[in-house]
Amino acid sequence: MKNIVLLILLASQMSFGNAPFWSKTGHRVIGEIAQNELSGKAKRAIAKLLDGKSLSSISNFADEIKADSRYREFSAWHYVNIPPGKDYKDIEHNTYGDLVTGIRKCIEIVKDGKNPKEDRVFYLKMLVHLVGDLHQPMHVGRVEDKGGNDIQVQWFGRGSNLHRVWDSNMIDDYGLSFSELANSLPELDKNARKKIQEGEVLDWVKESQEIADKLYDSVENGEKLAYRYSYVWWGTVESQLNKGGLRLAKVLNDLFK
Ligand code: ADE
Ligand code: ZN
Ligand code: ZN
Repeated sequence: MKNIVLLILLASQMSFGNAPFWSKTGHRVIGEIAQNELSGKAKRAIAKLLDGKSLSSISNFADEIKADSRYREFSAWHYVNIPPGKDYKDIEHNTYGDLVTGIRKCIEIVKDGKNPKEDRVFYLKMLVHLVGDLHQPMHVGRVEDKGGNDIQVQWFGRGSNLHRVWDSNMIDDYGLSFSELANSLPELDKNARKKIQEGEVLDWVKESQEIADKLYDSVENGEKLAYRYSYVWWGTVESQLNKGGLRLAKVLNDLFK
């Protein structure tokens, strides 16, 4: 009995230690960037749905509800696994849904003003989060290592894994608040912003998948990572945050035209 209690305790500790999500800061940065790119119409419609709350403040809702078993049906929506060299349209899809079907479902429900407000609010919060996850390349990784969760590495001498380095280690160690980080990202001119907003979900998935391919080559199992890794990859983190924010704004501006 004692052993079972100990095992359960250990297992729960482990799952807390492995929280599988883009850092809270990353999602808030993406919400903040999007908020500043909203059209007047989208801004007003969203403020009404969210009772005046900002996109950054609700951007982690979809991860928070993971602790509640009533929301289990949404847990596969946070990622999509695609084998290298394959396209989403050519693979067998997770029957529980994935990032692509999740985002599509959110758009469908938020778009229809006849749906109950409660549902539109729920799926709007999901949408803000999922467009963020789509820009964490390891959320578009390979199934056999659970998007890098099974690739163990050390991060400044402590146990981590490739997924977590990209979810949170690099961003959290950078040490800025979400608004400081949003303000510190490279400024993009109007043309560059427009270019980033081109395409649609499957194009953005492809881009993340291609980055993930490089990230699989960026570490060896068990490797000790520290300053050098962030030095090499921080530009990619910044660019994915910028893209996530700008594309989220694009999706929302199209929804509330
Ligand atoms: N998080 C949990 N499982 C995952 C997977 N298979 N791919 C990416 N992220 C995940
Ligand atoms: Zn994650
Ligand atoms: Zn998530």
